[in-house]
Amino acid sequence: MNGFVASEPLAKARSYEEHMEAFIEPKDRPVFHLSPRVGWMNDPNGFSYYDGEYHLFYQYSPYTITWAPMHWGHAVSKDLLSWKHLSCALAPDMPYEKHGGCFSGSAIELPDGRLLLMYTGAGENGKRKDGSPIEHQTQCLAVGDGVDFQKYEGNPVIDGSSLPEGSSTEQFRDPKIWREPDGTYRVVLASLGPDKSGQIVIYRSDDAFTWEFEKVLSRNCWRYGIMWECPDIFTLDGKDVLLVSPQDMLPHRHDFYSGNGTLCIVGFVDPETGMLMEESTSGIDHGTDFYATQTILSPDGRRIMVAWMQNWDAIAGSIPSTRWFGQMATPRELSVRDGRLYQWPIRELEGWRRNRVAHSDVAVGNEPIALEGVSGRVVDLLVNVRPEGDTYQEFILWFAQDKMFHSSIRYRPAHGTLEISRIHAGMRRAYVQHRKCDIPGAPAELSLRLVLDKYSAEVFVNDGVQALSMTLPTVLTADAITFACKGQVSIDVEKFDLVDPAEE
Ligand code: FRU
Repeated sequence: MNGFVASEPLAKARSYEEHMEAFIEPKDRPVFHLSPRVGWMNDPNGFSYYDGEYHLFYQYSPYTITWAPMHWGHAVSKDLLSWKHLSCALAPDMPYEKHGGCFSGSAIELPDGRLLLMYTGAGENGKRKDGSPIEHQTQCLAVGDGVDFQKYEGNPVIDGSSLPEGSSTEQFRDPKIWREPDGTYRVVLASLGPDKSGQIVIYRSDDAFTWEFEKVLSRNCWRYGIMWECPDIFTLDGKDVLLVSPQDMLPHRHDFYSGNGTLCIVGFVDPETGMLMEESTSGIDHGTDFYATQTILSPDGRRIMVAWMQNWDAIAGSIPSTRWFGQMATPRELSVRDGRLYQWPIRELEGWRRNRVAHSDVAVGNEPIALEGVSGRVVDLLVNVRPEGDTYQEFILWFAQDKMFHSSIRYRPAHGTLEISRIHAGMRRAYVQHRKCDIPGAPAELSLRLVLDKYSAEVFVNDGVQALSMTLPTVLTADAITFACKGQVSIDVEKFDLVDPAEE
């Protein structure tokens, strides 16, 4: 950007990442999941299509592989799968970011062609009696050309003083901005409401720089965790959909589990009250690692969701000797059918499929079987399972497997549940290593899609009615895939290696 001068913290981060990324070998990274240029990554930020490319920013600490005052990392891609790292976009260099740095936010192209970033400044507002800082979160702007971003001199543009009385500005964050058809702007934000549980609010603006409080969109009322993070609201297939990431969830059957979760509310915004009327609620992803979703509308009209493929409670599993930590989930196309959210890996992934191997009508019984040509760790695997006879109780698929390690997917039609497990994947810490979810309709026939990329597994069930994601620490030589069942089934299997077409 003409005349742009990086602040000292930004210049330092940029030169550090440029120097240190050479110590990370591309072969040690996921193939098509975005990982940080160096250091630590959490939430996706500023997901946008700008100047002919997708831009994805992320919560970033270049110097550590644990969370530390937040910068914004930055990458671009033409297909959302093959990523190119750009320079660090934001560094904490302002008084209003003094406590935690530049927290999560979003991006939008302005009518004059510049890219606007809106993010939370995690500042400080005095001290408690015990000397600990009182965090003060405000909403801030930076404007740029897609590489360099100048923080707005009028920051913060939303300080929370017009929030409903009793709301918290210690917890007031994660702006997701959009433009209405009439050219005005809205931003959806999360805060703690007067009842000290999450509330989702909307602010409006004519020019994206001057903001006023518009309304409360939704209230948690202590139902799903406490604080709700990273809200996103959009209309899809005739419904209004709110995605949030609740903290401190209580488990509820298999749909929600304790810790940091994800929540999808499908309903409609009441034109009278402006509140989101809820028709159904469900978890978004039921695996061990999925949080902080953000969506955009792609130029061809698809609602695409990204997320951090990690879990705050699972970061104890990071390996001190590595130079990066954290990765994004495969971007997913969303749809709403019968009032439910469906997710499917972006269709661009199909363009990466190579070396097709197919087996039809394979009889599977109690003895595990392997199939010729079906193995690998960077793989797209499609499996259809049909019961044979009436003894069928459970179908099991093992992957990332050798003599010592394996992960698994288990479907129990009588219970209507599907479980993923990495208990034997080589985890060195004893946090949660398996998760279960209900499969709507509990059909006897099952269709699975398993997407593997070195250090992760993502499972999509029955056309995407459920999704489960988990990271894997398993050595890459553990690449067997085997099948078994309790009873008798017949399966069709289609397997592809996933290869970047640009690298052939
Ligand atoms: C969610 C979150 C956000 C916050 C960011 C800080 O994972 O806690 O609410 O903006 O991470 O890194």
